[in-house]
Amino acid sequence: MAKGNKSDKAEKTGKTNLHPTKNPISENIRGAMVELLQVHLATAVDITYQTKQAHWNVKGMNFIAVHKLFDELHELTEGYVDTIAERLTAIGGQAHGTVQAAVENSILEPYPLDLVKSEDHLKRLTDSYAAWSAAVEKGIEEASEAGDPLTEDLLTAVGRGLDKSIYFMESHFQS
Ligand SMILES: [Fe+2]
Repeated sequence: MAKGNKSDKAEKTGKTNLHPTKNPISENIRGAMVELLQVHLATAVDITYQTKQAHWNVKGMNFIAVHKLFDELHELTEGYVDTIAERLTAIGGQAHGTVQAAVENSILEPYPLDLVKSEDHLKRLTDSYAAWSAAVEKGIEEASEAGDPLTEDLLTAVGRGLDKSIYFMESHFQS
């Protein structure tokens, strides 16, 4: 579900301007990690409103259960938005946290506006989570290779959360 052209934006230019900081990580590693985290911040902002789109519009006999589940997922993803943004700023970056920036940089396909049935929302949202989880896995490797274990750890926690959310959604339609 990740867009080819959007993935290209994830390529690191190494030209990120950083704020001065006493953070001990070297400047070129911090620059690379800010670029990495910027993509995940945009994707987190995107997905947090995908969960609300599902929360608001879902209909079906299991309405109240999935309506509440989507809101719980929203709260978790809002937590990821904040955690990612604050790691990015902690290492000297400038967070691009607006919806407009998310549109530019998110790796996700736009969420359809016309979905109604709970199964359709669960499957479509699972696709988004799976696409982001795959990108997070790559990000974990990138942070590890760059030598930033704290960003690696942060992305690992996000990835573990995403995979649990995928399990919660997929269990509705797995036999
Ligand atoms: Fe609500």
